[in-house]
Amino acid sequence: AGTVTHDFEVSWIYANPDGSQNRPVMGINGQWPIPTITATKGDRIIVNLKNSLGNESTSLHFHGLYMNGSTHMDGPIGVTQCEIPPGSSFTYNFTVNLIDQPGTYWYHSHQRGQYPDGLRAPLIVHDTDSPHKNLYDEEIVLSFSDWYHDLMNPLLAQFLSIANPSGAEPVPDSSLLNETRDLSVKVEPGKTYLVRMVNMGAFAAQYVWFEDHTMQIVEVDGIYTEPTDADMIYMTVAQRYSVLITTKNTSDANFAFVGSMDQDLFDTVPEGLNPNVTGWLVYNDANEKPAPKELQAFDPFDDYTLVPQDKEEIYDHVDQQITLDMKMDNLDDGENYAFFNDITYVAPKVPTLYTALSTGANATNPVIYGANTNQFILAENQVVEIVLNNDDPGKHPFHLHGHAFQVVYRSEEEAGFYDPNNHTAFPSTPMRRDTILVRPNGNIVLRFRSDNPGIWLFHCHIEWHVASGLIATIIESPLSLQSQLDGRIPANHLQACADAGTPTAGNAAGN
Ligand code: C2O
Repeated sequence: AGTVTHDFEVSWIYANPDGSQNRPVMGINGQWPIPTITATKGDRIIVNLKNSLGNESTSLHFHGLYMNGSTHMDGPIGVTQCEIPPGSSFTYNFTVNLIDQPGTYWYHSHQRGQYPDGLRAPLIVHDTDSPHKNLYDEEIVLSFSDWYHDLMNPLLAQFLSIANPSGAEPVPDSSLLNETRDLSVKVEPGKTYLVRMVNMGAFAAQYVWFEDHTMQIVEVDGIYTEPTDADMIYMTVAQRYSVLITTKNTSDANFAFVGSMDQDLFDTVPEGLNPNVTGWLVYNDANEKPAPKELQAFDPFDDYTLVPQDKEEIYDHVDQQITLDMKMDNLDDGENYAFFNDITYVAPKVPTLYTALSTGANATNPVIYGANTNQFILAENQVVEIVLNNDDPGKHPFHLHGHAFQVVYRSEEEAGFYDPNNHTAFPSTPMRRDTILVRPNGNIVLRFRSDNPGIWLFHCHIEWHVASGLIATIIESPLSLQSQLDGRIPANHLQACADAGTPTAGNAAGN
């Protein structure tokens, strides 16, 4: 295995990715879009991050990587590290698992509300043992995302204000493909391409299709799947798919492919919003790039039916259960909040990891983590079940850090709360992934094994809902975590904490 090292200096620069107006974006080393990180499984990744934004703190999260033994490199501020204030630096240093972490990931800021300002890019882990490696000739990486003309800070202020009692989320102004609206992908006839797709958006799920070409799904969120054909994929924010696409045998025509934002998510659809972004498979530069055909019906592939290539069987005995009832409400004071079990997440004063490391045997007592972190302590090597009941008429994409989970059940919309005595049969080899959609007023049931000591967030990946508190904290095997990290806050954390003035000791409430 090798080492992949990057020196990243984050600063504001100007960009105009949808051709409407220049706006500030978060670039790296004076460039935007920021670089894709490419590694091979088993590699060490080192990112020397310097914050030159001048006005905002930052951090990076490597979405989907399990970070075994490296929870302190996972990135969320107030959870596994202090914020990295302007002028300060932090080094991320971890290895990508050798056995079980090939595929398509991404990295993004995990400071509140920040990645939609541009601090987001794919992270690809190559695998010389891929079961699909003989099935394709070349790779293509595509990112899809919604795009706002305004900066996140003013949008967040408006979204969270008492002037927005319905909690209506800001609607994107447009959407981007590889951070542009003018993407041509050169292809050759008679070849097969592995197309890796990531939704890096803040809010909008995307319907994705390639005109007159079939997608064969071979990976979701880093998990290889039995090859499965799909004409259209529904990709929530933070989800990834790899698909095989075989090109035509002639280069007579070029073909459009489309990402179409799911407008059901928007409370109101502004006049003139174009929900689509179009790219082209270009067989021949001399030919026209046709406009996509108008679609009447959206009938995406159901990811719940996917089967993982390793055919891992369902965990049929559950040791520990977490039930999360989620809702959104303005509590009649005008401001909109999001809740798990009636609690809106508020980040603790001392990052949760430091509390776990510094409290000895008390680390298994949930009380020390504060009253507003929706904390759950997991014992080691248990089969854990998360039941999530969506008591809200919206769609929500939920993400768990540190694990992929089996999706053992997903109800239709309006099914209400999960009833263990009344549901369709569970699949025997459920799909695994790290981000899953729960339908409006529906429910999902997820299972995983607690084999990765660490502090892992579970949250809705819609960035507006992160800001309104739709977050739980999983405190997994805290005593093993203490021995893994020698019961000490890792030394490279202390400088950022000192620069930020964040306490690293005391209980979670900062007392
Ligand atoms: Cu993309 Cu908390 O994660």
